[in-house]
Amino acid sequence: MEILKKYQQLVIDRLQTFPRYKPLVASLYEPAYYALEGGKKIRPVMVLMAAEAFGTDPLKALPAALAIETFHNFTLVHDDVMDRSPIRRGRQTVYKKWDTNQAVLTGDAMLLLALRHLYLLDKELIPGALDLLTWVGLRVSEGQQLDMEFETRTDITEKEYLTMIELKTAVLLGTALKMGAFVARVSEEDQKLIYNFGRLLGLAFQIQDDYLDLYADQDVFGKKIGNDIATNKKTYLLIKALELADASTRDTLISLYTTETTDIERKIHLVSDIYNSLGIKELTEQKITEIYSQAKQALMDITDLDGHWRKVFSDFADYLMKRQK
Ligand code: IPE
Ligand code: IPE
Ligand code: MG
Ligand code: MG
Ligand code: MG
Repeated sequence: MEILKKYQQLVIDRLQTFPRYKPLVASLYEPAYYALEGGKKIRPVMVLMAAEAFGTDPLKALPAALAIETFHNFTLVHDDVMDRSPIRRGRQTVYKKWDTNQAVLTGDAMLLLALRHLYLLDKELIPGALDLLTWVGLRVSEGQQLDMEFETRTDITEKEYLTMIELKTAVLLGTALKMGAFVARVSEEDQKLIYNFGRLLGLAFQIQDDYLDLYADQDVFGKKIGNDIATNKKTYLLIKALELADASTRDTLISLYTTETTDIERKIHLVSDIYNSLGIKELTEQKITEIYSQAKQALMDITDLDGHWRKVFSDFADYLMKRQK
């Protein structure tokens, strides 16, 4: 997608700036620069696309796009501590390369930098943009809280899982689009409609992330394969397996998820075998496709979007659906 490349580059060129701020202690920001490098940059691209789709110069939305991406990368720095994830984007995570204290502090600074980006928006847009970003920030934190609490539970329902991923992931994709629409000053109704499209993309995106966590090629995905199993995450795969397994397989799974082990590779292997016996891979692929189609349906509800932009967003959904990282 041409537009994706163009906007990714725009974001990359401007991301490592300090809005209205002169650092005095450079070492606080070195891990922040590092964390902001790489990645797909889908969220800021979504902000810019939505702004342009609704008739505004995307440059007007750039501060909001940078805010959203800085916020996203802040969540990743802390998420990797919480998830004990050693690699991201094909290299060491911040807490591995530095240490946990550094990841906590630099993450905090990144959250504040994200907020400061918003001050470069048109003045009358700042309160509304702050409202959106702080709202979504609290929602993501709620999702992360559930994600963490679910690690020690084995009775999570599909409904609880969907609530958790809506909060930790989908609200941010929805808000990225809504932010662009807000900067374009479209009606509340259109903001709601485009939010819903992004929210559905986000649900599919997170289930796909769960899928890739086990089934991707590690060199392409850039994250450690099997880390969700290693850390007892309640993924779509596990929830379906617990739902479909017979009593004895279910007991085996629960015991694997409640017993400490030093042989992580064996645990990953055993869980994978159970998934294979239950057809979890195919089932998850179906679910991902189903929710991406729902997202595309929701796109059709946005009658104020012209055909060209509907096609751009539909292509964007396809791009996400085909992703390997
Ligand atoms: C990772 O997000 C966190 C999830 C919500 C699954 P991305 O897959 O967008 O990560 P980057 O920014 O492209 O590395
Ligand atoms: C993503 O969840 C949600 C946030 C980071 C807020 P994951 O923990 O699955 O994301 P990855 O797989 O580490 O990128
Ligand atoms: Mg996590
Ligand atoms: Mg994680
Ligand atoms: Mg993940």
